[in-house]
Amino acid sequence: MSLTPMKQILDEARKKGYGVGAYNVNNMEQIQAIMAAAQKTKSPVIIQASRGALKYSNFTYLKHLMIAAAEENPNIPLAMHLDHGNSLETVKKAIDLGFTSVMIDGSLMEDGKTASDYDYNARVTRSVVEYSHKYGVTVEGEIGRLGGIEDGVGSGSIHLTDPDQAKKFVDETGLDALAIAIGTSHGAYKFKGAANLAIDVLKKVRALVDIPIVLHGASSVPIELIDKVNKYGGALPGATGVPMASLQEAIKLGVTKINVDTDGRLAVTAAIREVFATKPEKFDPRDYLGPAREALSEIIAGKMKDFGTAGHSDDYKSMSLEDMKKLYGK
Ligand code: G3H
Ligand code: 13P
Ligand code: ZN
Repeated sequence: MSLTPMKQILDEARKKGYGVGAYNVNNMEQIQAIMAAAQKTKSPVIIQASRGALKYSNFTYLKHLMIAAAEENPNIPLAMHLDHGNSLETVKKAIDLGFTSVMIDGSLMEDGKTASDYDYNARVTRSVVEYSHKYGVTVEGEIGRLGGIEDGVGSGSIHLTDPDQAKKFVDETGLDALAIAIGTSHGAYKFKGAANLAIDVLKKVRALVDIPIVLHGASSVPIELIDKVNKYGGALPGATGVPMASLQEAIKLGVTKINVDTDGRLAVTAAIREVFATKPEKFDPRDYLGPAREALSEIIAGKMKDFGTAGHSDDYKSMSLEDMKKLYGK
């Protein structure tokens, strides 16, 4: 069993021009669903855990579930990624747990407040790069600020990425992948009107920056899922996401890592609501978590095809963290 460095997964994807989904997880069924989708479509994959997910699962449980995923699926390049790390301390803890990749989100402070200071972001990101690369671990950073509704993640006002600042940030920090803000936001309510992305910003960043670009807040919030949740007693009026066609355009223009959490949450919720509403006599968790796992797997397999990830799991042999240490040491 071995996990794959995220840098390798993203570099391979960039060479061939496809995108790789990074899917958020909190529990066993979600991890199994993602791996089943990766097997079915023969896709490399990134599984990511937020600080909230690690806390919810008591850290050790999620670690062992991800390691189980790698053990059960040795043919699938799989990166284990910390999503929205907020300090060097959090990153150190993730690396101790065995993560092959970390995000440092310099718009978040350790006390949960948001920072909008470039110097702070560059400083904390640089310190994370210096630490992580010694262990062969990939680093994602972020420049610009997303909008969103999750507590402590992307809240506050939106600042689209400044392409010149993005270049300066990459040069000063030496990070491996750069998340940019081009109009997406976390959660199920992304756009009030038309779902417009700042494609001009993406093009300018791509022209100046030669590392993989990451898009957070990239769920599509499919209307079928919203309708199903609402049909079975949910209340998600007016939820909207990023259309798949926009994501595919973004991939063509240089986005390589595509972060998806909300669509998975919707698929799971819709499936569970359906069981509760149509089979009120059921009370064995397997009777609703099983269908939820299947629904999630189907949604993710669809994304793997749409992002172009499908069919690439056998393209390369996974590097080890030892290989990466040597690479970073050069
Ligand atoms: O980017 C945020 C992800 O959707 C994780 O959300 O902090 O509620 O686990 P969470
Ligand atoms: P969504 O809320 O659009 O799924 O975005 C998730 C994300 O960016 C995780 O980091
Ligand atoms: Zn995010």
